[in-house]
Amino acid sequence: MNLHSKIVHIGVCTDEKTGAISTPIYQSATFRHPALGQSTGFDYTRSQNPTRKVLEEGIATLEGGSLGLAFASGMAAITALLMIYKTGDHLIVIEDCYGGTYRVIDKVFNNFGLTVTFVDGSHLNEIVDAITPSTKAIIVETPTNPLMKIVDISAVIKVAQPHGIHTIVDNTFLTPYFQRPLELGADVVIHSGSKYLSGHNDLVCGLIVAKDLELGERIRYIQNSTGGILGPNDSWLLIRSIKTLAIRMEKHNSNALAVAKWLQKHPRVVKVYYPGLDDHPGKAIHDRQASGYGGMLSFVVDDAKLVPTILREVKLIRFAESLGGVESLITLPAVQTHADVPVDVRNRLGISGCLLRLSVGIENEDDIIQDLEQALSL
Ligand SMILES: Cc1ncc(COP(=O)(O)O)c(C=O)c1O
Repeated sequence: MNLHSKIVHIGVCTDEKTGAISTPIYQSATFRHPALGQSTGFDYTRSQNPTRKVLEEGIATLEGGSLGLAFASGMAAITALLMIYKTGDHLIVIEDCYGGTYRVIDKVFNNFGLTVTFVDGSHLNEIVDAITPSTKAIIVETPTNPLMKIVDISAVIKVAQPHGIHTIVDNTFLTPYFQRPLELGADVVIHSGSKYLSGHNDLVCGLIVAKDLELGERIRYIQNSTGGILGPNDSWLLIRSIKTLAIRMEKHNSNALAVAKWLQKHPRVVKVYYPGLDDHPGKAIHDRQASGYGGMLSFVVDDAKLVPTILREVKLIRFAESLGGVESLITLPAVQTHADVPVDVRNRLGISGCLLRLSVGIENEDDIIQDLEQALSL
């Protein structure tokens, strides 16, 4: 089946008895044992739930992995994944990762003796130089957030594999519709499902897909032990949302490209970061590993004083955190999503008070552009 059809058919129920098309919500905490020592395969919902199982198997299929796991948030997923590592283990993480990922590694897992080196993932030599005998994982996002840098996934895998180091890709921005890192050889994909996968700014959830069953089972052990699972209702909502992923992603992509090209010509805009633009330095690598550019872009205005005006004056576009929903959202990463990245790192990276991040929704593209035009011209 073509990926587009697989996406639509995620969770189509095969219940012979009722013929239901939609997977039921199994709102049950516990399950009856047929007899002593027997199980239906479901004992208690923290361990496994039939609705969650459909979602977990579905995302594993779309990413091309052997085991999927669903969590109460993207951060719960990332936390469970990090728990497979031990005191003294070393991680290499891209420095412009999502601020919450930075925070949980730098401020929480450091208390448990995990060490980390933050690098510019678009410079492979920085990753190579950071490898130590204790390095257990390289964690990347591509495109990065909010600077839209491109990390060469295959090149990272090539340097990681000989040392037995895991390559972990946060695939939140592109989703399996545009990019499937496991097919390139990555070990684990993580998602904030709160973004494009759920797609309607109404759900918080997280997913993990492991390429290899043994590694997946190790993460599943942590999921069951620590309990950060996605509930049956939210699992069902996520299944329903994923069904329209392909058409949503196509529209996010075409809208974002149109907005990026328009912003490039605006006199108050000094820089636009979007991998679909011809002058993007990572475009050639991106085109090798992904089939679309997604709906995220960032831009820099010529004066920080313009920023509060834009955030106040946008009407169709909402000034709110998060991304990946059908409604366009605008954020100021320096004070919102990336506030936990140390200020010297932010300044060095260019996450300044003039940098705005736009999650381009699926509205009419002219309406989005008109809204920006009126907000930028005040
Ligand atoms: C790229 C990326 N990864 C992970 C997360 C964390 O996900 P959640 O907010 O669902 O916990 C986010 C949230 O914004 C994100 O943008």
